[in-house]
Order: sequence, then structure tokens, then C-alpha cells
Amino acid sequence: VDGDEKELRAPICCILGHVDAGKTKLLDCIRGTHVQEREAGGITQQIGATYIPENIRDRTSLKAETAIKVPGLLVIDTPGHESFSKMRSRGLSMCDIAVVVVDITQGLEKQTIESLHLLRRHNVSFIVALNKVDRLYGWKECTNAPIVEALKKQSDDVKSEYKWRLTKVVTEFKENGFNTAPYYENNKKKKVVNIVPTSAESGEGVPDLLLLLVRWLPGIITDKLAYDDTVECTVLEVNEHKDLGTTVDVVLINGVLHQGDQVIVCTKQGPVTTIIRDLLTPHPMKELKAKGAYKHHKEVRAAQGVKIVARGLQYTMAGTSLIVVKPGDDLRQAEAAAMQEIDMAISTTDENEKGTTTQEVSSIVTSKEGIYVQASSVGTLEAIIAHLKSSSVDIPVYAWNLGPVYKQDVMKASAMLKRKEEYAVILAFDVKVMPEASALAAESGLKIITADTVYRLVNIYTEHIKGLKE
Ligand code: GTP
Ligand code: MG
Ligand code: NA
Repeated sequence: VDGDEKELRAPICCILGHVDAGKTKLLDCIRGTHVQEREAGGITQQIGATYIPENIRDRTSLKAETAIKVPGLLVIDTPGHESFSKMRSRGLSMCDIAVVVVDITQGLEKQTIESLHLLRRHNVSFIVALNKVDRLYGWKECTNAPIVEALKKQSDDVKSEYKWRLTKVVTEFKENGFNTAPYYENNKKKKVVNIVPTSAESGEGVPDLLLLLVRWLPGIITDKLAYDDTVECTVLEVNEHKDLGTTVDVVLINGVLHQGDQVIVCTKQGPVTTIIRDLLTPHPMKELKAKGAYKHHKEVRAAQGVKIVARGLQYTMAGTSLIVVKPGDDLRQAEAAAMQEIDMAISTTDENEKGTTTQEVSSIVTSKEGIYVQASSVGTLEAIIAHLKSSSVDIPVYAWNLGPVYKQDVMKASAMLKRKEEYAVILAFDVKVMPEASALAAESGLKIITADTVYRLVNIYTEHIKGLKE
């Protein structure tokens, strides 16, 4: 495409906010899915990416003043729980725009404020979804209605409760350095952050949210959205998949990935060069993290969330770039570039140990004595470790692994049986424990703890130590 009309890629949008503000439920409402209801403990524990086609705006009869044409929107859902701060930070670092979800009955909360810090640091434009308006006492449901219409239908009592809660939230944003206003009254849209009241339960305000997301918000960052053939690709997650082996979930920000491409990933041990065997995406409007059916592709074009199947991905550091080596490129030069990124990631990690910045790149610190942690993905592994650190006990980690618990894991973890009994345990999250592994553990006295949430997992462990000490 030439002339004035530059080709644009889909913007990448991150959903942030405090626990239970309704981030996942809002996405479910947009997608027509039921992800939230199936989450263990009702909490999001894994970062997710969903491609929303541009025609979604057909669900809205509203008109945007600033309207550009983007092919769709790649939405990244993040967990609100405290221990998942790395996942949030990583999600945001690869985004163009964001939605901060605030529960109207709660106002700004701890992780809302953390999100605002992240947004400021990365200089990302965002809108606020002021969610759960249906919780206002006496709210009259107007399924999927534009918010102004829905508000008109409410009683005076509801209107006045809405007004004071909205004012309170605007004040709280102000206290955190952001000017905000309800979007239908906001005539300084570029300077004042838009608030869209929504209900993820009955859909009021969701047409408005969609409109701002696919038409208005991308319009204020058009310069960032020029499509470019140069591959820009960041690793979101490293997963152990039961059929596919180790896979990486990436966000392809620009360019095209092909089956058969030679690529380099960053690991703590150095660059690993491999070949893309398969490119998988979920179906449109479905989650990348969902264990459902994937579409296979010969090539994938930005922006998109993609699961990459290749050998040698096991130690990929989430948050680093995936580099494509094109025919004719100097492989050694490309590997040197990867090495530079690894060095930087590791040095930033050291800095982080002193607590100066939030890190986006995974780099798990291990100790000579500590417990063994096993999970299905690097992101959840980090959340478990963050939670272990923040818990009253501050438990070190001796070693970790991704995927099912095998005999070798039990053997390795058993080193602690002689050194420090309270550390002789494997915390296993969202992975299978192989029967031989359980048998060996039972025989040797190693404890394997499994649970469906990070929080339960660590709780069971702390109870276990208490038991030992008594
Ligand atoms: P985390 O991922 O755990 O941080 O939470 P979240 O922000 O994704 O919130 P989630 O979608 O899990 O919703 C939390 C709870 O609030 C669930 O029980 C939802 O059904 C409920 N909920 C979310 N949005 C709304 C809403 O607009 N109205 C009402 N009444 N309930 C809502
Ligand atoms: Mg959620
Ligand atoms: Na939740």
C-alpha cells in the first residue's frame, strides 16, 4: 500500500487492574466466552492473548470522531494478584495501549495503583473501564446498551450513587497524577483519560468500550502502528505442553513468522538457535493460553499471539526477544545480538535484587539449600517464587523445572533430605506427577505438594513445615 494510507498492524492492548475488578469477565463479555467461570479459585494465574477482529465494532452503533482502520486488536489479559507482578509488567511492556479495570464499588486499589505506575513508566495511553455498574443499588439492567442510554433509564437514587462513586474515582486518579473524565463528557480526550462505565455481567457500556478500543484509542497512536516487515517478537511465556513438548508463547509485534524460519532464543546459558517447526494460534476470540484447539499456520503476520513449536526452547527467558535469522544473515552476528540482550537481562536482574526496578525478563535465582518448584509455565513459576519470598517464612528455591514431575526431579529434590528436611519437598503446580515419581518420593520420604492455585500451594507447604516443627 502506498500513498498516504500506510498499512497498519493490529494494536496490542493490555488489560490491567486489581484482583477481581472484572478483567477476565469483561473479556468474556466481549468474546462471548466463559473463561472466568472455569478459573481455579476464580483467579487468573496465566497471562493470555486473544485476537479480536476489527468487525467486532459492528456490535456498536456508536460513532468515533477519531477513526482509523486497524485490522483488529490483540488483547492481553493479566492476573491481578500481587505475586503476579512480573507477568503484568511483561504484558504491559509489549503493549501499545491499555485498559485499566476499576471496580466502581471499590475504587482504586493496590494493584490499580501499581498498574498506573507501570503505565507511566512505559508511557502507554489507556482508558479506564469503571466496571460493575450493575452493582449500584437498584440498577435496572439494560443488556448491552450504550452507557448513556442505560444511565438515562436509571432511578434518581441510582443516578446519584453513580455520580458520587464516579466523582470519588476521578479524585483518586487525580491523587495519583492522572486527569480522568467520563468519556461522554470528555472534550479534551487527548489530555484527559477516558472513563467508560461498564458491566461485564449485563454488558452495559461494553459497546462504548469496544468503540474506544478499536477506533478511538488506536487513532491517537497511529504512528506506532505502521506495519513493518522487520520481525519484532517478544517471548510472553514458556510452557510445557503435554503433546507438543516445550513451546513458547510469543507476541509478534511486527513482521511475519514462517514455519521453517531459523530463530534464536535467549537462555541464561546463552543464545539457542533452532528452527520453527510449527506456528499455532487459537481461533479468533479464543485465548492463547486455553488448552483447546489450535490453528496451524505456515506463516503468521503481526500483531498476533503465537505458540511456537521448536526444539531447544526449554530455558528460554520470558520477556526476551525472539530473533529471526533470514537467509543471508550472519548467524554469528545475530547470536551476538542475542547474547547482548541476555547480558542486559541478567545485569538488570542483579540490579533488581537491590529492588530498584521491576523486571520484565525472567531470571530465577536459586540457592544451595531450598525447595524444588515445578510448574507448567515460567510465569507461574515466578509467581510461586514471588509468593514464597513474600510469605512470612521467605523460602529459598534450590531448583526448578517445567512440565511433569519425573523420577529425576524427585532424585534431585531428595538432596535436601539430608541437608534440611523442611526443604525436602516439590511444589508442583498445574503439572502431572508421574506414578514412578510419586512412588520414589513416598519411598524416600520426599513430600510432593500439588494444588490448583499458587496461594493454596504455598499455604499447604507452610502448614507442612509447621507440622514438622511441632
Ligand atoms: P483476577 O484475574 O483474579 O485479577 O480477577 P479479574 O479482574 O479478572 O476479575 P474476574 O473477571 O475474575 O471477576 C471477579 C468476580 O467479579 C467474578 O465473580 C465475576 O463474575 C465478577 N464480576 C466481574 N465483572 C462484573 C460486573 O460487571 N458485574 C458484576 N455484578 N460482577 C462482576
Ligand atoms: Mg482475571
Ligand atoms: Na478473579
